[in-house]
Amino acid sequence: RTVYLNGDWLPETEAKVSVFDRGFLFADAIYEVTAVIGGKLIDYAGHGARLRRSLEELAIPCPLSQEALLAVHREIVRRNALEEGLIYLQISRGVADRDFAFPKGAEPTLVLFTQAKPVLDNPRTKTGLSIATMPDWRWERRDIKTVQLLYPSMAKMEAMRRGADDAWLVEDGFVTEGSAATAHIVTKDGVLVTRPLSNAILHGITRASILDLARAEGIAVDERPFTVAQAKEAAEAFITSATNFAMPVVSIDEAPIGSGRPGPIAARLRDLYIADRL
Ligand code: PDD
Repeated sequence: RTVYLNGDWLPETEAKVSVFDRGFLFADAIYEVTAVIGGKLIDYAGHGARLRRSLEELAIPCPLSQEALLAVHREIVRRNALEEGLIYLQISRGVADRDFAFPKGAEPTLVLFTQAKPVLDNPRTKTGLSIATMPDWRWERRDIKTVQLLYPSMAKMEAMRRGADDAWLVEDGFVTEGSAATAHIVTKDGVLVTRPLSNAILHGITRASILDLARAEGIAVDERPFTVAQAKEAAEAFITSATNFAMPVVSIDEAPIGSGRPGPIAARLRDLYIADRL
């Protein structure tokens, strides 16, 4: 693979970041994941906008203009002949002597790499995911897409230890989101229920697109928090994320959701999203 590092295009084995990089020492960095289908960027405008917001919240200067960042995304697809998969982008505050205070005048470190993987024909779409719930022990600024991913990683490992595919995180009795995806349910009355935006969750780009498509299809959308019990009683459950689009959830803590098979509304929204974005 050819990766991008601070203005250079390098073979992945030659791309090196300092041990003093604050991304490495403090997780002082933000990231974005953009899906690529047929060599095309999916929902890039949203990812670009959220990237700038994350940087502003942390007072990390954006190393490139909006146009230049888009050009780098397009160029990395071209250089790697990427047909299907994702682009990972990370910006850290940069390299400085270890100190909790932000350094003055550090140059941000900007890295992009690609990962080829099947996104359209994901076999999990047919089987759906099993979910295990556990407490949300992340910090309270989950709206900022930082690389502090240790707890979500531990949560996924715990879910897998329990025989599930992934975790949904719960705070004060309400589902916040998945380890790396937005959580949604569809009630028996056909209402799509999803947690409203706040600092408790990442403002999912796929979430916004799927909600728009749902409303345009005449599916009622209710943005309110839901409990694990309400999720277990739902007709359907699903997650959304850049690389999952809409992906059905078929069980929560071993309780089957609805028929226990992928639901029609999740499948419909997934198809609509793909048709709309390609
Ligand atoms: N995860 N919530 C969390 C905690 C996430 O990490 C993600 C994305 C989402 C969905 O956001 P979006 O629709 O903008 O991808 C929600 C990415 C894909 C990841 O960490 O790999």
